[in-house]
Parts: sequence; C-alpha cells; structure tokens
Amino acid sequence: MYDYQRNNIYFAQAAGMMESICEQELIQLGAKNTKVAYRGVYFNADTPALYKINYLSRTITRVLAPLRNFHCKTSKDIMKAAMSIEWNSFFSVEQTFAITSSVNKSTINNSLYASQVLKDGIADFFRTKYEKRPNVDTVNPDIRFNLFIEKDKAILSLDTSGESLHKRGYRLLAGEAPMQETLAAAIIRLSKWDGDNPLMDCMCGSGTILCEALMHYCRIPAQYLRKNFGFFYLPDYDEEIWHQIKSEADKNIRMLKDGLITGSDKSQLTINTAKDNLSRLPFGDKVKLEAHPFQHIKKFENGTIIINPPYGIRLGNRKEVESLYKEFGDFLKNRCNGTSAFIYVGDPELRKFIGLKTTKRTPLVNGKLEGVLLQIDSYSGSKKKKHQTKEKIL
Ligand SMILES: C[S@@+](CC[C@H](N)C(=O)[O-])C[C@H]1O[C@@H](n2cnc3c(N)ncnc32)[C@H](O)[C@@H]1O
Repeated sequence: MYDYQRNNIYFAQAAGMMESICEQELIQLGAKNTKVAYRGVYFNADTPALYKINYLSRTITRVLAPLRNFHCKTSKDIMKAAMSIEWNSFFSVEQTFAITSSVNKSTINNSLYASQVLKDGIADFFRTKYEKRPNVDTVNPDIRFNLFIEKDKAILSLDTSGESLHKRGYRLLAGEAPMQETLAAAIIRLSKWDGDNPLMDCMCGSGTILCEALMHYCRIPAQYLRKNFGFFYLPDYDEEIWHQIKSEADKNIRMLKDGLITGSDKSQLTINTAKDNLSRLPFGDKVKLEAHPFQHIKKFENGTIIINPPYGIRLGNRKEVESLYKEFGDFLKNRCNGTSAFIYVGDPELRKFIGLKTTKRTPLVNGKLEGVLLQIDSYSGSKKKKHQTKEKIL
C-alpha cells in the first residue's frame, strides 16, 4: 500500500504567492482539510475529487500523490525506498519516465544526483524482473515521479497531473512576453469577473488572458484539450470514475455571448497569434480581435479591463514604457467610466506612472518576475459596480 492510498493526502504545487488562491479553488473543487505550505497546498481528496481537481483547476501547477515518506541521509536510503516499490504496477518497460527532484538543507545537496540514484533504483528493479529497463525522457515522458528531500526526510511521489497544468494545450504560439496561464486564471478569479459586463484586454499579446477569460465564462475545463494525465498510471486508476467526472464537467460548457470578450494589441502579428491560440478553444472564434493601439479606443464603459502591459525589462524601452503607463492612466480616467481595470505590472515601480489611485494591490509572481496586480476602479457617476471596494476614487 502506498501513502496516498492510506491517507488520501495529496500535495498541489502552486506558483509563488498563489498558495491561498489555489487553496480557495481546491476547496471549491472538493478538497478537504487543506493546509497551505510553501509553494503549495496539502489536501485530502477521494478519487473523484482528485480527478476533478486535475481536470478543472485553473490555478495549480500539478498534484503529487505521495508513495513513500522515508528517512533520508544517504543515497542508500533513496535506493532502499526505490526497492520498496513495485514499479511495474505504475508503468511498463516500453514506457518512458522522468524524475524531478528538489533538495533543501539535506546532506544530499545535489538534486540531479538524487534523481540519478532514484533512476538507477527504478532501472535495477526492471532489469532484475525483465532483463530490460525503461528509458528516461525528460521532455515528454509517459510518467513522472517527484523526489523531495528536506533535511533528513524525503517524499517520493507520483505526479498525478503529468505535464504541468499550466500547459492547457491552446497556446502553441506565444508572443514576446507571455503571461503564465495559471497566473492569468488567478487574476480573473481575483477580478471576480463573471460575465455580467464586457471584458477587454487591450494589450492582449498572444491572448492568454482572453483564452482564460473565455474558459472561465464558458466553463470549459482547464484541461479540456489534454489527453494524458499522470493519474492514469496510478495502480488504482478507475477509468469509469474518470469518464464520469469528465462528462459531467463537459456538460457544463456554455456558449460565449457576442461581444462579451474583446481583445486588441498594437501589433498585427501578435493578434494573429492570439487568433490562432483562441481557435483551439470552443467559441474562441467569438472573441473579437482587432489590431490597433489602445489609444485608438474611443470608450470602454461599465466593463472590466484585464491587461499585462510591457514593463520595460524584456519589452520596450523604459522611458517609452513610463509614458505608456501614463497614457493608459489617462485612457482609464477619460474614457472608461464605470470600468474596473486589473493591471498586472511586472515592475511595481511603474505603478506611479498610471497616476490613479489603486483600490487594491496584490503581489503575484509571473515566472521569475515579482510583479503586482493593481485594481483601479474608474468611475465618476452614481453607478456602483459589484467588484468595486472603494467609492469615488478618481
Ligand atoms: C507583456 S505583453 C502582453 C502579453 C500577453 N498577456 C500574453 O500573455 O501574451 C504586452 C503587449 O502590449 C502590447 N502593446 C504595447 N503598447 C501598446 C499599445 N499602445 N496599444 C496596444 N498594445 C500595446 C505589445 O504589443 C505586447 O503584445
């Protein structure tokens, strides 16, 4: 019996600063007894909830199913743990595997070495049994394992997601500085946008925010396009439960209303990319796209703007970027009455150039970048919007 079978405890990995957003989503998807940790959340789930979380979660990166918790000081301890597992109940010699390791404050201070030892243990197991061993494939393996060593404790897990869950399958092409899909989904959650007003991304690049907004509104499962999950390889995988979870979730998909989601960008090339990415999703062709600078938009009232402007490190020159933020602030002030804007700024210093008071600031990480999500509610009339948390800000 493996650890996850004994206690139903799993670990959902989260990007930095997204742990509590992920926890809220996990609870909604049926996780119990959640406990936030560094870069993730521990939770209890029964089999249907585990499959549902993998299929529907928009914010987590992967879910690990612990197989063995063990005392670990030397490579012999890793070998011993490897020898205690019937690897052929997870995969066959014809299939490929990969191992990701991380080590922290351990006498084994090299994660590559830890992976190598585990890999040798797995290879030995198969060689003894079949005189043959499965190959490693670090790019596109059939099955992935994870080894986490902290001080003298180790957890060896199977990755029930497989490929990272941020890879939805719609983004085959990316613009210059694309946003992580899980971050875009987290921002949409934080905006509380639910389709009762129009949503616009007027610097849409490759269209990640638009794709995530479309999936959110239309209730398209985050992994709708995924064919292979790591949980398929669990020895107790139940295909019937999986098909039931999938068909129940797919039944919830609903149409996109015309004009509800629109995107634009000054670059025709990135608009082509956004169009291509959207075309892989149901109703993606109903998202209206236009190539022009946001400065050409006459007005956008009583709606929601979610954008991720350039921040001057990878894209554009600093001075230009500063004046872009100022122009965007003027655009919000003069042409966006009744609109709430959610602006993910890669460099928090740029906030001041917008020149408007922020209702809320939420620090969030995009890859290696420690940015901040600004909420600016732009309204001067009497109409108060649902997600506005302060009055009359301009
Ligand atoms: C950081 S990228 C957006 C990335 C996008 N969120 C994605 O996931 O691909 C910023 C985008 O802003 C666009 N941009 C810069 N200045 C603009 C302007 N004045 N009007 C419209 N788009 C602009 C750039 O062409 C670029 O595609």
